[in-house]
Amino acid sequence: MANTLIQPLGQLRLGVNIDHVATVRNARGGVYPDPLRAAKMAEIAGADGITAHLREDRRHITDSDIDALMEHLRIPLNFEMAATPEMQAIALRHKPHAVCIVPEKREERTTEGGLNVAREENHLAHFIAPLREAGCRVSIFIAADQKQIEAAARIGAEIIELHVGPYCDGVEEGRYDESAPELERLREMSAYANSLGLEVHAGHGITYNSVKPLAAFPEVMELNIGHFIIGEAIFSGLDSAIRRMRALMDESRNEAFGVNVA
Ligand code: PXP
Repeated sequence: MANTLIQPLGQLRLGVNIDHVATVRNARGGVYPDPLRAAKMAEIAGADGITAHLREDRRHITDSDIDALMEHLRIPLNFEMAATPEMQAIALRHKPHAVCIVPEKREERTTEGGLNVAREENHLAHFIAPLREAGCRVSIFIAADQKQIEAAARIGAEIIELHVGPYCDGVEEGRYDESAPELERLREMSAYANSLGLEVHAGHGITYNSVKPLAAFPEVMELNIGHFIIGEAIFSGLDSAIRRMRALMDESRNEAFGVNVA
């Protein structure tokens, strides 16, 4: 399988997902803790971008959070959204740096699987065209599946975000280590996506225990991490949790490639 990097190996970007700061706020229905404050702290701690998912049911991030992030953030916003006309209109109004298209079901606790691009190819091709024309980088959240990767390339997406949740959950539950076939599959599919000209990101369920093998994939340019960092912040503080994750990413990159990319 081709493994030619289309971009020079650089520092792996960390996108911090702040959805669950909003989850805690919404548990009481007030204004505290403020996701924008978390985003600004993440920026200082070394995040390269902020990810926020405006769900149809607004269970965590709200429209006014997106307004505030767009107005006050200095680092790029990766706006996660379902492929609905409502979300498309919001994205076109704000024109965030990137949009990440995810599947969404009301009854799920979190994004459960990747998008079935192969099944919805036509719809998604039309859906993302205006977003690309508006200057947004378009990322598609998919499983590590050759068919889905090929479909993502065909619809004109610039980026795929690989769903690494099953691998990360396996690590946390003690079922997987670095010899897991699931990890090998992710590695192969990262290389394959890169060979098709797609930029590769990875996200979902990443923790201190699972980040290093993923950070060592040369094609992966960005990791998007939320729930674990926000949870860890309860114990060590947000700044420290982000800095530790950042350090593990850099350590992994340095170990894998023998260069100091930090
Ligand atoms: N990437 C995508 C596309 C997601 O849907 C999520 C969860 O909102 C994340 C990354 C972050 O996942 P986690 O919160 O498990 O770190």
